[in-house]
Amino acid sequence: MTNVVVVGGQWGDEGKGKVVDLLCPAFAEVVRFNGGNNAGHTVKFADRHFALHLIPSGILQPGCRCLIGPGVVIDPVALLEEIRMLEDQAVSVRPRLLVSPRAHIVLPGHRALDVARETASGAAKLGTTGRGIGPAYEGRARRTGVRLGLARNPRRLREAVAAASAELEQAIARCPGAVAPSADEIERTVEAAAAIAPMLGDVSRALADSDAAGRPILFEGAQGTLLDVDHGTYPFVTSSGCLAGYAAPACGLPARVIGGVLGVFKAYTTRVGSGPFPTELFDGTGEQLRRRGNEFGTTTGRPRRTGWFDAVAARAAVRWSGIDAVALTKLDVLDELAEIRVATSYQVGGQTTPEFPDDAEEVGAASPVYETLPGWQADSSAVTTAEKLPDVARRYVERLEELLGVPVAVISTGPRREETIVRRVQPFAGWNVAP
Ligand code: IMP
Repeated sequence: MTNVVVVGGQWGDEGKGKVVDLLCPAFAEVVRFNGGNNAGHTVKFADRHFALHLIPSGILQPGCRCLIGPGVVIDPVALLEEIRMLEDQAVSVRPRLLVSPRAHIVLPGHRALDVARETASGAAKLGTTGRGIGPAYEGRARRTGVRLGLARNPRRLREAVAAASAELEQAIARCPGAVAPSADEIERTVEAAAAIAPMLGDVSRALADSDAAGRPILFEGAQGTLLDVDHGTYPFVTSSGCLAGYAAPACGLPARVIGGVLGVFKAYTTRVGSGPFPTELFDGTGEQLRRRGNEFGTTTGRPRRTGWFDAVAARAAVRWSGIDAVALTKLDVLDELAEIRVATSYQVGGQTTPEFPDDAEEVGAASPVYETLPGWQADSSAVTTAEKLPDVARRYVERLEELLGVPVAVISTGPRREETIVRRVQPFAGWNVAP
């Protein structure tokens, strides 16, 4: 059985939570390897609804062990709240959660600095989630960060948090009108980190042992490939690696442990925050996608920007993340449309190109070259077999496969676990994943 990485192929919010939740029964371990509580995964089954930000969606499958790797930045207060939310709903968490001591803590000062910088930037803001993710990764790179492992030694933790908070306070003071966090707020973070200490353990060792014993690992990506700090639309990106290949080294494992990559894409495109989005719609169709797709952020509640499927950007994501097969989500959101467009290339500076430019300004200036496909104007919601899909909807899926050069293995036709079509296409079928 192969170890599989699940990543978003667009700008986040592709529906990775549902896909991971579906695949979990086939995996012994599910590990988060990047980002922090800027991510938001929604999982719905029966009449229950869970919004997860740090804990892998695998926690909802009783047989799975869940891990949070060294490449994740953790706000201890947020993690503890999530643990309690799950425990309140009778989900067992503490005995099944292993957190890396190497993961960095998001301090209240990181959050305050994130918000202060965004406010000071006015119209030029990045549109971050305001969760302190950028400043926490910055602290890690500056080597002034605080790692969660210090929670095993309260004296060292307090000293490190005090030193980092003092440095952050100076940075916050340089932003007009910004207020540094109170001593109480900082103390709450220290206490939450101490409460997490019993869950700390060596994630690399645990996963390497699992791999050696043939227990399959599911690596759960956060954000999306186009938000990757190196390859995305810089500077309108997050601060960590979002490509699938990052999963292994971020967890202290060799690249060869990755056996397959499932890329999750919406049947259209959305983006939250600032940054270029060539296929964005500003008309009634865009509004219709937002309304039908309930396109409002899980983490911040912000309305998402909406647009057509962008095969230029998606092809780049397929290459960067080495996507072997696609999970296509929210197909039913397109049900009412008379016609559907897909960008197949860009016009940049008078030239037509199939490539995604490396410069965000160039992406912003690109005009998409569209192919127009007929809409199916029939109900595809809750369809569970490919044969029951309207013919025209099936052709849309097949056209995306041609444009991306990889098969669509999973089609989601609604938010619930049951509302899913699984196609036994290679290489997905060969991974022995049984949703
Ligand atoms: P940050 O990660 O909070 O610093 O935000 C940087 C950019 O990434 C902003 O445009 C955010 O909206 C975007 N972003 C971060 N996390 C997610 C996510 O999970 N889904 C969608 N967008 C995200």
